[in-house]
Amino acid sequence: MRVARMPQVLDRRLSLDMAQVTERCAVAAARLRGRGDEQAADLAAMAACHRELQLIPVSGTVVIGEGSEGECEQLFVGEKLGAGGAEVDLAVDALEGSTLCAKNMEGSLCVLVIAERGSLLKVPDAYMEKLAIGPGYPDGIVSLAQSPQENIQALADAKGVPTSEITALILDRPRHAPLVEAVRKTGAAIKLITDGDVAGVIHTTNPHESGIDIYLGLGGAAEGILAAAALRCIGGQMEGRLVLDTEKKRAQAKALGIRDGAKIYKLEEMVRGDCLVAATGVTDGALLKGVRFSREVIETDTIVLRAATGTVRRISTEHRDFRKFRMQG
Ligand code: FBP
Repeated sequence: MRVARMPQVLDRRLSLDMAQVTERCAVAAARLRGRGDEQAADLAAMAACHRELQLIPVSGTVVIGEGSEGECEQLFVGEKLGAGGAEVDLAVDALEGSTLCAKNMEGSLCVLVIAERGSLLKVPDAYMEKLAIGPGYPDGIVSLAQSPQENIQALADAKGVPTSEITALILDRPRHAPLVEAVRKTGAAIKLITDGDVAGVIHTTNPHESGIDIYLGLGGAAEGILAAAALRCIGGQMEGRLVLDTEKKRAQAKALGIRDGAKIYKLEEMVRGDCLVAATGVTDGALLKGVRFSREVIETDTIVLRAATGTVRRISTEHRDFRKFRMQG
């Protein structure tokens, strides 16, 4: 099934600028791999991202960032970044999977989304219940309105296999114990990950390679929007429902214009227009290789996605001019 495309608004040449941003973020974070200091790795990635985003030819506003103004100094929601150009929204996770990076475990990456102005759902600092499957299935066969069992069964039927041949990816958290139990009852397999659900959702888009058919569970709402942008480019179905379990989160959501806190958002409601997504691996993972350092070269592995065309570019870069990277310490 072909993915419905949206009109092109963003210049595809931004892809390379974006790759440079995430590459430099990834190198900054990778220098702190395995040091047991999540915060240091996060700050290094944020500083690199902030500096590089000031150079790219857009007039950007951060809509998904590292926190609200006053809470963090860089990449806060509302911050204006870019060297000037088309008005766009920026969504960024300078280091997705900071614990993975600090422990030098698989799957940490740097992610940047540039989207048509006003097209990304603005979310509070909360969890989002997420459900994602890859491309090629009839619309709406799975939904957060159904139980996990119903979703696994519907997916198995659509794939033409028994439920025992379905694999679900779930974050390994105590809160997911009932979900894990429900999925196991169907006979489906579960792969548990310790962190990194942006990559987790993206894995559903290529079940042949990843072995993952469906992503289920609660993770960061911001990460949900980043993952939705990736699916908007590659294809696939995703739904998200915010978990507004405190007065503060409900008030934040209201201030962002969210009237129905229990709404199930479809992919097209989370990312409503054209977008570009870039991600560079920090540590090795199934999606991207991590940064490799040697005396002569720094090697990075990046993926750049384009919603208007569905293009997936893989950029394997050998950096020989270290000046830009030395500045990052
Ligand atoms: P960070 O890089 O911000 O630590 O996020 C990692 C992550 O695993 C996300 O991929 C996921 O959405 C979120 O944390 C889950 O939150 P929690 O660790 O509270 O379960």
